[in-house]
Amino acid sequence: MAELLGGLSLACDVASANVPEKALRTALFAVELGRRHGLGEAELRDAYYVSLLRFLGCVGFAHEEAHVYGAGDDIATRELMAMADDGDPLGTVRRIVTRLGRGGALGARAKAVARILGDGVAVAQHAAAQCDASIRFAEMTAMGQPVARALSSICERWDGKGHPAHLEGEAIPIASRLHHIGDVVDLAVTRAGRDAAVAMAKRRAGGQLDPALVRTFAAHADELLAIIDSASVWDRFLAAEPRPHLTASEARTDDVARAFAHFADLKSTWTLGHSTGVAELAARAAKAAGLAESDERDLRRAGWLHDLGRVSVPNGIWDKPGKLTVAEWERVRMHAYWSERALWQARPLRPLAQLAAASHERSDGSGYHRALPGGMLARAARILAAADVYQAIREARPHRPARDRDAATKELLAGGRRRPARSRRGRRRPRRRRRAATKAAALAVRSHRSRGRCAAPRRTRPLEQADRRCARDFRQDRPAPRRPRLCKDRSREPRRRCPVRD
Ligand SMILES: [Fe+2]
Ligand SMILES: [Fe+2]
Repeated sequence: MAELLGGLSLACDVASANVPEKALRTALFAVELGRRHGLGEAELRDAYYVSLLRFLGCVGFAHEEAHVYGAGDDIATRELMAMADDGDPLGTVRRIVTRLGRGGALGARAKAVARILGDGVAVAQHAAAQCDASIRFAEMTAMGQPVARALSSICERWDGKGHPAHLEGEAIPIASRLHHIGDVVDLAVTRAGRDAAVAMAKRRAGGQLDPALVRTFAAHADELLAIIDSASVWDRFLAAEPRPHLTASEARTDDVARAFAHFADLKSTWTLGHSTGVAELAARAAKAAGLAESDERDLRRAGWLHDLGRVSVPNGIWDKPGKLTVAEWERVRMHAYWSERALWQARPLRPLAQLAAASHERSDGSGYHRALPGGMLARAARILAAADVYQAIREARPHRPARDRDAATKELLAGGRRRPARSRRGRRRPRRRRRAATKAAALAVRSHRSRGRCAAPRRTRPLEQADRRCARDFRQDRPAPRRPRLCKDRSREPRRRCPVRD
């Protein structure tokens, strides 16, 4: 379970522009500090998982952070407010006035500053939204009552001035208090160094932080900071997991994947329910295609997690009604990369990393992030891509309305058939690839229409066979197939038949 949640926490790091492994360092620090404070394994285990799950709630307020308080960039707002101290209102005001929306238009900045300073209930709402989302994720992953309770207190303060319940002192669960100091120390270490971390913890003792824990930290500062202030803490993080270790069964892995799907979809109001819809479509299509049960399970999980990297892109881009700029498209294209990296880090899900990341590839090579031609996409990847496009077409986006089922079906299937038989350079494209793309699209549509009662096709082709065919196509002694538009247009917006940004 630690490997699974620890790996996926990379998505939480990029969602808040934190230095990678932030969640891992915080969990490790909380456990090591708790051990030196004399706490038992059960309390340490709660603190460990609270630190991992706490950042899942960050997207619960992303829409408001972007559009009400953040001049379009929720990630920058979150990063800005991460170091803010409610016990230092003057410092917080100075931080907001000088840094909020920096680089943006002056008018938008002024409006954002006025809103965040003039809206007294924003902080409380923010805290409540984060807590609600975190608790929901803890329930979905069956983490137990103590972890859920600690997550509900994640925005509380030792002096009782926190949110949402204004808990004070030891009424705040110890797991939350350990996380608080881990969070503050890690932010200070990565941004200002070890001395600043010790000074900040001491300054916040009795206000935001538990003074007894700060004393323990100060007494062991050198060894504790040496543990987390290193190039990578992955191995130490795994070794520090309190016993007994939580294991991730197949069912629990599904629960975690589904929870992270909601985490990704919660990012924007336009994408609620998207990943779960893609997962169901892809799994049904796999069944209709006669794939093995394990492939169906993999496609469902890849559907849940294919857009995990979406949290790395500011909401101002996802929610933009107009055309995206080249720079904005670059950030959009990178979200598939981050999905792949997060899955790669989560060892139990590593085999799905490339499949999930291929959900934005297109048969004509105009997709992202690798811009692979259709011949290099396995059958499962083509099914997932078709399910993703179909699901997205059925959903409204800021730049277009949702299509009904017939229009979406027509659009998806036309995407495969309308492709010119010749490339821009006049070379003939193989028919085989066109048929494969269309078949994947048809499977996705059929699986949607059949509502789960999918008839087996007359002819089936195992996934492995499709992969071997791809490998044959790219043997070194044969010229590689042309990749249309790839060289010219890599940095440009994919045109045409790909009507979806996501
Ligand atoms: Fe996506
Ligand atoms: Fe998607």
